Amino acid sequence: MRETARAAPARVPFGSLDDDYRKRRSAIDELARETGRILVEDCAQSLGASVNGGKAGSFGTVAAFSFYPTKNLGAYGDAGALATGDPELARLVERLRQYGWSRRDYSEVEGRNSRMDELQAAVLRAKLPLLEADNARRREIAKRYDDALARLPLAVLRRRPGSLPAPHLYPVRTLARDELARHLSSRGVETAIHYPVPLHLQPAYAFLEHRRGDFPVSEESCETVLSLPMYPTLSDAQVEAVVSGVEAFFEEET
Ligand SMILES: Cc1ncc(COP(=O)(O)O)c(C=O)c1O
Repeated sequence: MRETARAAPARVPFGSLDDDYRKRRSAIDELARETGRILVEDCAQSLGASVNGGKAGSFGTVAAFSFYPTKNLGAYGDAGALATGDPELARLVERLRQYGWSRRDYSEVEGRNSRMDELQAAVLRAKLPLLEADNARRREIAKRYDDALARLPLAVLRRRPGSLPAPHLYPVRTLARDELARHLSSRGVETAIHYPVPLHLQPAYAFLEHRRGDFPVSEESCETVLSLPMYPTLSDAQVEAVVSGVEAFFEEET
């Protein structure tokens, strides 16, 4: 954790939680507390996911949610929210969101303008009741992929007991990632890479003076991970087209 940071992020990736995540999170939480910082749970990809009944966003002091259009609950533009059980922090965040005002035209802290646009709020309000059904459909698609891809030489996320995922993405790992992406694209199946460049190799963080090789696990992930189509309006036929495209690729390979 950098000396100057007052908040540290813990990310819940791809909409999947497990007890390991919970344990790791508690350890980071402890470290954050000891050093007077706040742990922010990054739930941008995990709205609706839970482990043993505990929902993503409910484990720490504060959680951040994204309602970017592709997210599990997506607005028609940018939007997001923070959740906290700490009333003091909630008051501070309310102020930060609107010029630091504690009352109109009176900035008690240095804030910004990051209110949620009313139109986005209306869209989210209309879509919120659909979230659980959408997440259930995402799980159904993930299960079909899990079952079909289990026989193939590529790695998928492990499902753990007690975990109810809200699959935001469906990442697979293979050394033949780029070839698989090209093959699927030629069959009209769009894929994406989350994420192609690890943080330590981003030009913005050059000042930290990391080099290739410093974080081999992140680097390998960036070279081997591919996201298959995952959104609730995928039809069964589209899911089967993805499955047969991946199967055909590995049949050709062998
Ligand atoms: C894990 C994670 N954190 C943060 C963000 C940023 O969310 P937003 O675009 O709403 O700021 C994203 C969005 O892609 C994300 O996937």
